[in-house]
Parts: sequence; C-alpha cells; structure tokens
Amino acid sequence: MAEFIVRARAAPVEPEAFRAAIGGGQGVEYLAEIIRSALFVSQGHRSDASVHLVLEKSRDFSRIVSFGGENLGSLVDLHEDSMLQAIANALETSSGLGKDEQITDSRGVTVRTTSFEHLVKARAAEQEIYLLDSSGEDIRDVELNSSGIFVMTDHTPMPKKSFKSMARQGVKKVSLGPVILHASQCITLIHNEMDRQADHRG
Ligand SMILES: C[S@@+](CC[C@H](N)C(=O)[O-])C[C@H]1O[C@@H](n2cnc3c(N)ncnc32)[C@H](O)[C@@H]1O
Repeated sequence: MAEFIVRARAAPVEPEAFRAAIGGGQGVEYLAEIIRSALFVSQGHRSDASVHLVLEKSRDFSRIVSFGGENLGSLVDLHEDSMLQAIANALETSSGLGKDEQITDSRGVTVRTTSFEHLVKARAAEQEIYLLDSSGEDIRDVELNSSGIFVMTDHTPMPKKSFKSMARQGVKKVSLGPVILHASQCITLIHNEMDRQADHRG
C-alpha cells in the first residue's frame, strides 16, 4: 500500500481561484499528473494507493484533498481537466469548514482543513514516513515499509524549517537518484520500487 503526501504551497484553496490558475503558469496542472501517477496503471488502477494534495494558498486553512484508489467513485476520466475539476469541486464542498474538519464529496474525494505539519506529525506517530530528497539515502538501499508514506513537494521548495521538524519526527530522507524529477515522476519510480520489493518478498 503506497501513500503519497504532496505539498503544493502555491495552489489556491478557493475553488474559483483554483480554476483560474489552471493554465496560468502556476503549476496547478501538475496536480493532475500526480493523481494519475499515484492511482492509475495501464488498464486499471491501484486500489491500495492514495494521494493527499496539500493546497496551501489560503485565507483561512490549508486544504488536504485526498484521493483513494479503493474509492475512485466517478473519477474514471483520466483527462487533465477532469481531474483538476474534481479537485475544484471537492474544494467547493469544503468552503465554510472550521479548522481540522473534513468532508467527503459525492465522488469520494475527501477534503480536510488541516495543515501539512499536523498531517505529517500525526501520520509519523503511526507509520514510517519517507521524505523525498536527492541528498537522502538511495531508495534501493532502503527496505521500504509496505505501509510507508512518501512526502514531497510539487514544484515549490519545501521550507527549511519543515525539514527540521520532520527530522525531529524521525522522517527518513530517501533519494531517487541524481536527477531532479517532477513529483509525478518520483511517484512512478516509488511505485516501481515498492512493486519490486513486494515481488522479492513474494
Ligand atoms: C520538482 S521537485 C521540487 C523542486 C523544488 N524546486 C525544490 O527545490 O524543492 C518535486 C519533489 O520531488 C523530489 N525529488 C525530485 N527529484 C528527486 C530525486 N532525484 N530524489 C529524491 N527526491 C526528488 C523533490 O525533493 C521534491 O519534493
């Protein structure tokens, strides 16, 4: 079971601002590619994978928009625009929520008003967390926990203080090699490493 947390610091949480950002050079489109890489394979999907997109450009709270492979609902159209609209529609359902509340829309997409820091801290207390960083240990030398959670940013850099607090929580840095990749490409490689390690374990 692979789970991904992707921090998108410049992605707007207001649905109209999110829609307006599509095609505007702010990188919102990458989110569709991230969902596709996390959940879909040729002629099917990964029912045991999930992806949490942390959208942080907000006047109130960050929004964590979560898609789970076990509950894809009507998200069968893999076109970029339909995935981006699925995010925007889920954001609409979350307007008016208080801090640390959550709602699941009719397609099974959940939105939580929780910060990146709180999410990582809560999950680190119960599961192994790996932070994607090209200075980390080579992923091929790491025996990956099959319930591990992989944390990365989109195209926006991770703030330095986040590295420090994640280190205190025992988050392990892993590298995918010397070339800096897009987040969606990292997800594909992580799935492949997880698939291979599971295959070796039999
Ligand atoms: C496009 S990169 C982010 C680049 C961003 N400008 C930065 O400096 O953080 C997206 C995510 O993929 C991770 N990443 C990209 N290539 C990687 C690699 N070779 N090994 C480990 N993580 C990588 C980054 O750490 C980041 O979390």
